Amino acid sequence: MKLKILVVAGDGIGPEVTGEAVAVLREVAQLGGHEFTFSERRIGGVAIVQDGTPLPADTLNGALASDAVLLGAVGGNEFNSLPPDKRPEAGLLQLRAALGGFANLRPAFAFKELTVNSPLKPEVVDGADIMFVRELLGGLYFGQPREWNRTTGEAWNTMRYTKDEVARVARVAFKLAQGRRKKLTSVDKANVLEVSQLWRATVTEVASEFPDVTLEHQYVDAMAMHLMNQPRNYDVVVTENLFGDILSDEAAVITGSLGMLPSATIGGKVDLYEPVHGSAPDIAGKGLANPLGAILTGAMILRLTARLEAESNAIRAAVRKVLEDGYRTPDLARNNPEGYQVLSTKEMGAMVRETVKTLLVNA
Ligand code: IPM
Ligand code: MN
Repeated sequence: MKLKILVVAGDGIGPEVTGEAVAVLREVAQLGGHEFTFSERRIGGVAIVQDGTPLPADTLNGALASDAVLLGAVGGNEFNSLPPDKRPEAGLLQLRAALGGFANLRPAFAFKELTVNSPLKPEVVDGADIMFVRELLGGLYFGQPREWNRTTGEAWNTMRYTKDEVARVARVAFKLAQGRRKKLTSVDKANVLEVSQLWRATVTEVASEFPDVTLEHQYVDAMAMHLMNQPRNYDVVVTENLFGDILSDEAAVITGSLGMLPSATIGGKVDLYEPVHGSAPDIAGKGLANPLGAILTGAMILRLTARLEAESNAIRAAVRKVLEDGYRTPDLARNNPEGYQVLSTKEMGAMVRETVKTLLVNA
């Protein structure tokens, strides 16, 4: 099969981790006789510096002409004093809006080998497997009006949703639940916010289309606690943009490291793939970054855009095998100093690549 992938590596550790993800995808393509082509464009801080804008037209056009976009990370401390619309993050938000994907899938899966790396008890996290569906194009991130009025000393953002926007992301979540353990948790703040009342009413209405899925509602504050107390209770979790941003970082605690989490955004013109972690400027360029989140993001490209299920599963199996064999990046070795072999970003990438190869050749 043919696949055109645009790589927008961005800032900080973005280039290091996407580099390893691309190498794994190239290996898979070569073994299977697939034609994957990769192009690169700038986004975020590097684009601000070189092109004067966080999302150059050339990047946007390249993205729209691809089958999938793989993004690394955006952001850096040197941009912290800029207003939101001038920052590296604005480039990512503009890209998301232009590509149109509204359902951001963020699976949080606790690999057994990493339970010791979580500050939670192994018996609490072991077996946790949650699919977060974060609405990505609405809510406070995009709602108007928004302003910081420096004269009056007031600032405001708007959490806005239409019924259709809620219904379409709810349908994605229900369908995912049908293919999993048939449980959907919808997260809102309907005890305080009108927009959450619309959210809850709409999700409840959509539920009648999916009688085989059990729906429950949770308030976001309670959910933040339940996630740490009993992560195994949850299957698919659907929520609005900002709540999903917050809860998905919290979910990293279950998996042992933020560096393990992949994501895929579907439902628009072009699918957008990004690891959940940020640009981590403190460790950028040092070979310390965990590429597994980006590599698992590559596996999501194979499953969702390329429909290469077996190859996607092989990447995941390879990640598991490498962990089983005791290889770790520094973020995964904090609580288990003895016995593990700590690898650099590149070494970890190579290890996964070799393992994928072995798995696919022997399949
Ligand atoms: C994420 C990130 C982004 C977000 C930032 C970089 C704009 O935190 O993908 O979770 O808030 O969506
Ligand atoms: Mn985030």
